[in-house]
Amino acid sequence: MILPVSLGDRSYEVRVERGCLRRAGESMNLDRRVLIVTDEGVPAEYAEAVAAACREAVLVTVPQGEGSKSLATLEELLLTMLRHGFTRSDAVCAVGGGVPGDLAGFAAACFMRGIDFYNVPTTVLAQVDSSVGGKTAVNLGGVKNIVGAFHQPRAVLIDADTLSTLSQRDVSAGLAEAVKMGLIADAALFALFEREDPMAHIEEIIFAALREKARVVASDEREQGLRKCLNFGHTVGHGIESAAAGALRHGECVAIGMLPMCAPALRPRLRAVLERLHLPTSCHYDPDAVLDAALHDKKAGAGGVDCVLVDAPGAFRLEKLTPEQLRARIVEVLEP
Ligand SMILES: NC(=O)c1ccc[n+]([C@@H]2O[C@H](COP(=O)([O-])OP(=O)(O)OC[C@H]3O[C@@H](n4cnc5c(N)ncnc54)[C@H](O)[C@@H]3O)[C@@H](O)[C@H]2O)c1
Repeated sequence: MILPVSLGDRSYEVRVERGCLRRAGESMNLDRRVLIVTDEGVPAEYAEAVAAACREAVLVTVPQGEGSKSLATLEELLLTMLRHGFTRSDAVCAVGGGVPGDLAGFAAACFMRGIDFYNVPTTVLAQVDSSVGGKTAVNLGGVKNIVGAFHQPRAVLIDADTLSTLSQRDVSAGLAEAVKMGLIADAALFALFEREDPMAHIEEIIFAALREKARVVASDEREQGLRKCLNFGHTVGHGIESAAAGALRHGECVAIGMLPMCAPALRPRLRAVLERLHLPTSCHYDPDAVLDAALHDKKAGAGGVDCVLVDAPGAFRLEKLTPEQLRARIVEVLEP
């Protein structure tokens, strides 16, 4: 299945096809120098498959985890390209989850003011969400994604066979973002989660989630309006993530964070979907700590904080909530 992402001269295609990793040269122009960026937790054979298709591959394996999204690792990638004589007509390719994707994408955006970037995502989160949209970044001073650029990939290659080596917990956490897309934009996708075993339909889920994301990104590439809907579940989710201090995955926090932003009648349906995915539906943190962290980077203007709300699957609305209203919703998903 091919999904076109329409962004004028920055348009590209996403190929969703089992086994496409072994045919990487068909979707990407690898007849040049290519910096392949992966991490130590990604099975090495995935990056090696891409390297085998390149005229000249330079493979960099960074440590796994968020710590690699740093200026120091970025510098290492840029210096590697410099040392190998990369030019404007060479390329960078990420093979891994959102960490190598965001890092390598930013390196491609910076080197010589921007060279071609390819993304081969290998986690559910990256396959259903982060590989499309062109956001690239590293972290600085403990603040996530604070230094980055919009730099669209030239192509995205999604081989669902690579997901077989992921843990169940990582699969579930990634699927939370696809549930989010169903809730805000695609009722049929949400219904699929209510009815079916998601892994038996994973390509359909990836395609549907990315189709909706591509539609949003095409109409608001630089997050000036509509793209904010992708933050559904993330305001409270970020608050929980901060309070959890590493104990919960991002997707697990988004899962809990979506519940209070749904209309009460929808919550039991969402809760049932999350339970089937083995995702948490509540947690036990201090509501004020969660609220403080949720509001951390948000300015509560005169009318309150912009929030994305869902009354029924497939559509969202934006509403300003006062900090008190947000707190009341947070309390509903926290265990005493
Ligand atoms: N750019 C965007 O639009 C966007 C959107 C959402 C999230 N993100 C970013 O994505 C990052 C999180 O992404 P993630 O959840 O993919 O994390 P990740 O890249 O850290 O991957 C999670 C773990 O899975 C391992 N792994 C990757 N592929 C594997 C495979 N096929 N088999 C076995 N293990 C594998 C990795 O080594 C890592 O330890 C965050 O930094 C977040 O900020 C970016």
